Amino acid sequence: MEPSGRTLALELVRVTEAAALAAARWVGRGDKEAGDGAAVHAMRRVLATADLDGVVVIGEGAKDQAPMLYDGERVGTGRGRRVDVAVDPVEGTSLLARGAPDAISVLGVAPRGTMWSPGPAFYMEKLVAGPAARDALHPALLDAPVAGVLAAVAESLGKPVAELTVFVLDKPRHQARIAAIRAAGARVMLRTDGDVAGALMAARGGGGVDLLMGIGGTPEGVIAACAVQALGGAMLGRLAPQRPDEADAIRAAGMDVRRVLAAGDLVASDDVFFAATGITDGVLLSGVRFTPAGATTVSLVMRGRSGTVRTVLAEHRADKVRELEAGLGSDGE
Ligand code: FBP
Repeated sequence: MEPSGRTLALELVRVTEAAALAAARWVGRGDKEAGDGAAVHAMRRVLATADLDGVVVIGEGAKDQAPMLYDGERVGTGRGRRVDVAVDPVEGTSLLARGAPDAISVLGVAPRGTMWSPGPAFYMEKLVAGPAARDALHPALLDAPVAGVLAAVAESLGKPVAELTVFVLDKPRHQARIAAIRAAGARVMLRTDGDVAGALMAARGGGGVDLLMGIGGTPEGVIAACAVQALGGAMLGRLAPQRPDEADAIRAAGMDVRRVLAAGDLVASDDVFFAATGITDGVLLSGVRFTPAGATTVSLVMRGRSGTVRTVLAEHRADKVRELEAGLGSDGE
């Protein structure tokens, strides 16, 4: 019989904790590669000790570019559930490098074969909202004018558009959209990076965010979908290639850029797990704090089957943190 997975949630939170602890040494030091590298090493080491039979579907890239946590890598002890795994040891590497809010470490797990693989597609259009907007987010909204999207979401939430807060990545490609949101009278939360955090806020109502809108990474879309599925939230996506070579590669791979992808297409199961640990302080989670005794972390962990969302405050002893960083302790046991 498949293990129920009740304890898996806690195993997974250890994985994002380890990555966040390792990354936290690099907060604000201006070196996003070093911070990401430390987190990748720590995440991989602890993931190897988790009782699951996993394949990385969303990882650090193809094997020839990413020596660790590459797409297709087998992870876990090989005992336990057969699962697909989506990782982002540091979601928001620039946020980490600048010490800006809401850099997080994230991990999603779903039954084997249920996670969509973006292949050569780097960017997708995304709409994410909470459970109350599930009926409102119908596929046609992806082609609707911004004001129409806002009106539909506001109605589903039972409040005026003027009281909506929309999370948008502050990128040149979004300037017209940001202007349209403002013109419609809604409020905007602009962030330079980190649309997984934005999706979590939209799906859970964190930071007062009601809706995430805009184009972001496809891997981040699948990771966000794990959380949206676990929370029973609403999500729509569609590939949005940003360069001709990306569009060519998508066509060559036989993928349909017109296909609307709901959360259930990105992760085709509600038997999902999602864990996130704060690296920098943010709206979502407090960041890692180093103390004389060691360090503290704050994480969220969700299990789709039960719909439970747990906040885990962990105290890590200094010697264990050092072992983890040195790669001696395999898992902080
Ligand atoms: P990294 O953690 O890989 O730096 O990604 C951060 C991020 O902001 C994602 O949250 C988002 O989906 C993507 O980058 C957007 O990509 P771009 O910065 O190229 O517009």
